[in-house]
Amino acid sequence: MNLADLKENIRCEFVMKEKMKRFLNNYTGREWVEKTKWNNDRYTRILLDKEDGIYELMILCWKPDQKSPIHDHYGSQCIMKILQGEVFEDLYIKPNDNGEQMTQIGERKTYITDQMIHITDGVGVHRVGNSSKVHAVTLHLYYPPIVKCGVYDVNNGTRTVATPEFD
Ligand code: SIN
Repeated sequence: MNLADLKENIRCEFVMKEKMKRFLNNYTGREWVEKTKWNNDRYTRILLDKEDGIYELMILCWKPDQKSPIHDHYGSQCIMKILQGEVFEDLYIKPNDNGEQMTQIGERKTYITDQMIHITDGVGVHRVGNSSKVHAVTLHLYYPPIVKCGVYDVNNGTRTVATPEFD
């Protein structure tokens, strides 16, 4: 790859990210309501669409107090939109194997219906959860698909690899 290719690839990536954010932002449909599934023990993940190796689109259904583990995105881009309810995000610096307690970046952020989050491994690792008293639903676009992710222990930064599954 020469410099022109590199510049072109970088440009495409940024244009792509903005386009994808716009697509999710413009989505106002209610088809997802029929697809929600709830589990008392954990949040659920429901696949809406995918193209192997390219992207996957899903909804996540969170009962009050349900949350994801602190995780990375294994190189995928993650753009998410809150479809219903309110969720929090705790963002951390990706640990570097020093066994120390993980460092949170800033304060916990809260997002309400229609707001969006964009995260990549370059931004950090995060956890998301339902911070409201009602059921929350989020729409997630991962590209490429998040076939694996690193899950972190907040106390010492230990990373284990998990395989996210669908309900
Ligand atoms: C998240 O907390 O960002 C959701 C993780 C997942 O896809 O299960």
